[in-house]
Amino acid sequence: MQHQNILFTNNVSDAITSILKDKKFNRLFVITDSNTRQHVLPLLADNSFIAEAVNVNIEPGDIHKNLDSLASVWQQIGEAGGTRHSMVINLGGGVVTDLGGFAASTFKRGIPFINIPTTLLSAVDAAIGGKTGINFRGLKNEIGVFNEASDVIISTAFIATLPIEEVKSGYAEMLKHGLLKGQSAFDKLLNYDITSGDPDHLLTLLQESVEIKADVVRQDPHEHGIRRALNLGHTAGHAFESYAMQRNAPIAHGYAVAWGLVIDAVLSHIVCHFDSKLIYRIADYVLKNYGAFHFTCDDYDALLELMRHDKKSQHGEINCTLLGAPGDIRIDCEIAPDTMKEAFDLYRDLMHI
Ligand code: GLY
Repeated sequence: MQHQNILFTNNVSDAITSILKDKKFNRLFVITDSNTRQHVLPLLADNSFIAEAVNVNIEPGDIHKNLDSLASVWQQIGEAGGTRHSMVINLGGGVVTDLGGFAASTFKRGIPFINIPTTLLSAVDAAIGGKTGINFRGLKNEIGVFNEASDVIISTAFIATLPIEEVKSGYAEMLKHGLLKGQSAFDKLLNYDITSGDPDHLLTLLQESVEIKADVVRQDPHEHGIRRALNLGHTAGHAFESYAMQRNAPIAHGYAVAWGLVIDAVLSHIVCHFDSKLIYRIADYVLKNYGAFHFTCDDYDALLELMRHDKKSQHGEINCTLLGAPGDIRIDCEIAPDTMKEAFDLYRDLMHI
C-alpha cells in the first residue's frame, strides 16, 4: 500500500492548493452529502481548484451508504466526463469518505482520491487507513476494498460547528487510541475539556490520535493481526449499538464505544490484571461525559448473542481486544459468557444503574 500523506491544518483551502498543484488530473470531483454541500463546501468556494470542480452529491446518513448512492456517484462522475485521469475529493463524514473512497477506487478501475473529513469521528477513524465500502443486504460495510486516500487533510475548523454530542462521539475513538498508546497519551485526553471548543488545542490532540491509528495501520494495513487492536471497546460497543437499534432507540457510535471501553477496562482487569484504579477513572469520565447505556440482567443473553455474531467472531466465540495496561495490547482475547456477565454486573455498579 502506498504511503498516505496526512496533513494537519486549520487552513484547509491552502492545504488543498498545496496538494493539488503538484498533481496531474483532467477533472476534479468533490463528493459531498447534502449537509456538507450546504455548510462546508461554501467555506472553500474561494479556492480555485474547488471553484472549478464538479460537485457530486449524496443524501446524508448511514442509511444512504448503499448501492443506489454508489451507482449515482458513478453516474454523476461518468456523465460529467470523468476519466481514468480524474481526481476525487471526499468532503464529509464517514459515509462520504467510505462511499466516495469506494466509488473512486472502482471507477475506471480506480482513480486517486483525497479525504477531507468534516466530523471528529471521521477525522480520527474513517478517513484514515484505507477502509472503503458500502452497506449491502442490511450488513454494514459488506462490500468494499482496502484502498487509501493519497492525501488526508485533518482539520478541526469544521468540527467546532458540530453539535457537542458529535464531538463527544469522535472523542471516544480518541480515548481508545490513547489507551492503546499508553498512560501519558491517555492522561492528556482525560485532562482535556471536550466542551471547551478550542479548535487548535483539539487539533494537537487529534494529530497525536491520528498518528496512533496511522501507525497501527502501517504495521497491518489489511487487518491480519495488530490492526484488530483498534477494536478496543467495539465488541460490547457494537452489541450496545445493535441492541439500541432493536429497541428503536439508536445511539451514536462513539457513545457506544465509550461504554464499550468501560466494559473492556473491566474485562482487562478480570483477565489481564489491568489496574482497578484506572477502571474507576475511565468509568467516571465516561459517566460524566456520556451518561450510561442502561440494561438489566434480563438483557444479558441478548447482548451475548449479538457479541457472538460480531464480525470479529470466527466461530461463535466472544472476541475482544484487551489491555494489560495502557499501551500493553492483547488482541484476540476469547471471553467466556460468564466472564462477560461478570463484566456487565461490574459495569452496572460503576455506572450506578
Ligand atoms: N475502524 C477501525 C479500523 O479502521 O481498523
